[in-house]
Amino acid sequence: MLSGSERLFMTSNRSVPFYSGAASVRRQWTELSGLIRQSAARGTFVSGPLAIELEERVKQYTGARNAIACGNGTDALSLMLQAAGVGPGDEVIVPAYTFFATASCVAHVGAEPVFVDVDPTSYAIDPEAVRSAIGPRTKAIMAVHLFHQMADIAVLRDIAEQHGLELFEDSAEAIGMRAAGRHAGLWGRAGVLSFFPTKTLGALGDAGMVLTDDDELAERVSRLRTAGGTTGHWPGSLTVGTHSVCDEIQAAVLLTRLNVLDQDINRRAELAAHYTRRLAALSPVVATPVMAQSKEPGAPVWYVYLIETDHRAELIRYLTDHQVGTEIYYPRPLTEQPCFRDLAGARHPVPVAKAAAKRAVGLPLYPDLTDEQVDRVCDLIHAFHGGAR
Ligand SMILES: Cc1ncc(COP(=O)(O)O)c(C=O)c1O
Repeated sequence: MLSGSERLFMTSNRSVPFYSGAASVRRQWTELSGLIRQSAARGTFVSGPLAIELEERVKQYTGARNAIACGNGTDALSLMLQAAGVGPGDEVIVPAYTFFATASCVAHVGAEPVFVDVDPTSYAIDPEAVRSAIGPRTKAIMAVHLFHQMADIAVLRDIAEQHGLELFEDSAEAIGMRAAGRHAGLWGRAGVLSFFPTKTLGALGDAGMVLTDDDELAERVSRLRTAGGTTGHWPGSLTVGTHSVCDEIQAAVLLTRLNVLDQDINRRAELAAHYTRRLAALSPVVATPVMAQSKEPGAPVWYVYLIETDHRAELIRYLTDHQVGTEIYYPRPLTEQPCFRDLAGARHPVPVAKAAAKRAVGLPLYPDLTDEQVDRVCDLIHAFHGGAR
């Protein structure tokens, strides 16, 4: 007979949710509940010893000199830019195809995003497009690492150095990704991580982090995340900060999941390979992900398994009707977001971003997905295209 918690975490064999962390929580429940109980007994619920331990463990895992935990990846991006002195009058070159926060953080610190096109294979900012968008007010380049691979980060770093620009990384999706052995987020002045539940290292709520080898920047981020000082009242605050910290329950979840992160990454790779094998026969109607050529290549880390098809809407409808979840990454280029489209920085041509926003869709991918579930998704995609396999 199933226990109450087993029933709670159960999903039907036929349904394949886009995301489910239920089985990992169940597997690690004893360890996790122990940490949560300790934290409750201690009575420290935010920025306590677990959040500090998480920062230490992420430093070890990534090789960063500093890791500063905060409320989520969006806040981490704004804190990073504010601490680096990016502000009014500055332009930051960002990719047009990415999560909203990559550009909203630039606007939040009073600077202007300048949107450029992406590479069709990596979906990351196109270095040549970056070169052509550099102007007198350009302060920084924001590289973003999406889905399963890093941007061409060594080339972007060269461009930043040649033009005296800062390089930042929106590495929110990129825990575990490395190029030439160096972890994402550590190629420029600073980078961020998001621990949103669906991420490769996901919490059961929100959390994020700034990574940097720059000690002074780290100190400023640390102050800004707590209103400019420990309390913002005492000993007196020179900077206007915010309140964005990691709570102990999320830190407990993340510490527990960090213990199995490399296992999870390996399982994600097996599942991605399974999808690619099963969907190969549908090429080129269904395009499966590949690694782009880059100056310093790294191994993939599969956060999202993204396919492209001209029949996206119909395929999503078909999969939904058969209880398979999907997610559109990203529904429109940021140059078409009403809040950005009238900016001067939204005038560069972004045909690749536009095409990807029309054609790309993410399939379910998480460590607890079974091979049978991947087969079910692939069978349905084959059936949709007119042949059962
Ligand atoms: C590329 C990218 N940037 C920024 C974020 C923002 O992170 P969060 O959701 O933790 O605020 C995310 C994740 O959602 C992301 O994927």
